[in-house]
Amino acid sequence: MALNGNDQVQQKVLVLDFGAQYGQLIARRVRDLRVYSEIVACDAPAAEIAAMKPSAIILSGGPASVYAEDAPKIDPEVLELGVPVLGFCYGHQIMAVTLGGEVAHSEVGEYGPAVISRSGASELLGDTPAEQTVWMSHRDAVDRVPEGFTVTSKTDVCPVASMECPERKLYSTQFHPEVRHTEHGQEILSNFLFNICGLEPTWTMDNLVEQKVAEIREKVGDDRVILALSGGVDSSVVAALGARAIGRQMTCVFVNHGLLRKGEPEQVEEVFTKQFDVDFIHVHAEERYAALLDGVTEPEEKRRIIGTQFWNEFFAVAKQLEEDGRPVKYLAQGTIYPDIIESGARKTGGKASTIKSHHNLIPFPEGVHFDLIEPLDHFFKDEVRALGLALGLPEHIVYRQPFPGPGLAIRIIGAVSPEKLEILKNADAIVREELDAYNQRLFEETGERNSEHSCWQYFAVLPDIRSVGVMGDERTYARPVILRAVESSDAMTADWAKLPYDVLARISGRIVAEVPGVNRVAYDITSKPPATIEWE
Ligand code: XMP
Repeated sequence: MALNGNDQVQQKVLVLDFGAQYGQLIARRVRDLRVYSEIVACDAPAAEIAAMKPSAIILSGGPASVYAEDAPKIDPEVLELGVPVLGFCYGHQIMAVTLGGEVAHSEVGEYGPAVISRSGASELLGDTPAEQTVWMSHRDAVDRVPEGFTVTSKTDVCPVASMECPERKLYSTQFHPEVRHTEHGQEILSNFLFNICGLEPTWTMDNLVEQKVAEIREKVGDDRVILALSGGVDSSVVAALGARAIGRQMTCVFVNHGLLRKGEPEQVEEVFTKQFDVDFIHVHAEERYAALLDGVTEPEEKRRIIGTQFWNEFFAVAKQLEEDGRPVKYLAQGTIYPDIIESGARKTGGKASTIKSHHNLIPFPEGVHFDLIEPLDHFFKDEVRALGLALGLPEHIVYRQPFPGPGLAIRIIGAVSPEKLEILKNADAIVREELDAYNQRLFEETGERNSEHSCWQYFAVLPDIRSVGVMGDERTYARPVILRAVESSDAMTADWAKLPYDVLARISGRIVAEVPGVNRVAYDITSKPPATIEWE
């Protein structure tokens, strides 16, 4: 459970995860305050936790009732380690019952915003107002605090909205300070970290680079590592970390299926051969993919063929590598925290309920086994981006927009052909050039990379139809290109971007003028739902 190489980190806050759907959010809020934090399973024995030398411990929320038979428990010794502890929601209730207080079932739950009234002084609530809005999500509630604790706030429904025992450095809240809707959540967390625990906001991305490099070195030793490098942010950050940690002990395998955007394979090769010193293998699989996809029109069939062939190509390289007699022990992966939460909290104690199975699970062939290295599995996308910048990755990789694994094949409706690919790549390059520039202008105006109106994902789609046009004096019967540009934060929902007419006009004018075979441009004005972002 303990991460290796932790001696690098002087101050560390451990979040004990009781199955909160977004347990990592707490660790993330702590890191936002520039204190390192990571998550561990709630039932870790006190000795194991002590060995990790935490400066503070936070107990997360969770879906269970403390009195349920299979309710997650805490080793009571954790509360006796002399390390300050802060509990939220389930963490608040488990602290109460573990120390002899009582939690009662309540008829009326509290879900959503609630107003707490403070009673008396509180180290935790500090200078926050006497009445303030917090975010609640509970049915059970503490109704008798353990000996030595005082109640520091309540709501109309909840008799103990927060409690503390400063002598033992134990604090807890029924509400969720980690959620943005809790008005003074970050201030409450700051009070805990800086005033109560005496920590300093000194942690930076450079510290994280050093820590991750040390962990990878310690884990890998002299062994060999292979990485499937797609050119996306996550795998590129792992490649850059690996380059710094273990250099040429790592082989980055870049499978080029010929379905990437214009210029992309060249950019990936440039960065990982010139800028980073790793063993880089560019697998030119374009022709094999073209043959496999020839005449295939059904979207799921395209995905299946592309996915299966990817691993065929990858494992063929892995096998070749081992022909020199040195086995490859590890497979490095750019799994990030949201991937894990989507696949059911596989590492965080397994308590969060499964949402959906992760699309990147690897089908190892018979007889093949690698141990996994996933250095980003505690982090959110924007933290991974910051890590990439700290490692010196270029902005075109760090801020690369999401791009589907099956690539342009699912943006060509119907069968993929070299002619259609050429059209789409050229049209898409214009879309990206114009909307990159548009986003850059917004960034300069607002100072925000993802301002309200910036486009989150934008690309061209090539439908399987032709239409009539007139160019010069000639009638044309050529292809339309569809522009798709959306605003979103997580791809779960999206709205079509309200682009200025002059931007739309420029894109349309350029595509028709510069891309042979195209005589019309349409704009997709559908949100998700009911549509999806991609067309296939
Ligand atoms: P949809 O089209 O479902 O897409 O609204 C949501 C987000 O996921 C991306 N996407 C994929 N990413 N493999 C991926 O790695 C895929 O097969 C895939 N399909 C869609 C899409 O670009 C969007 O950002």
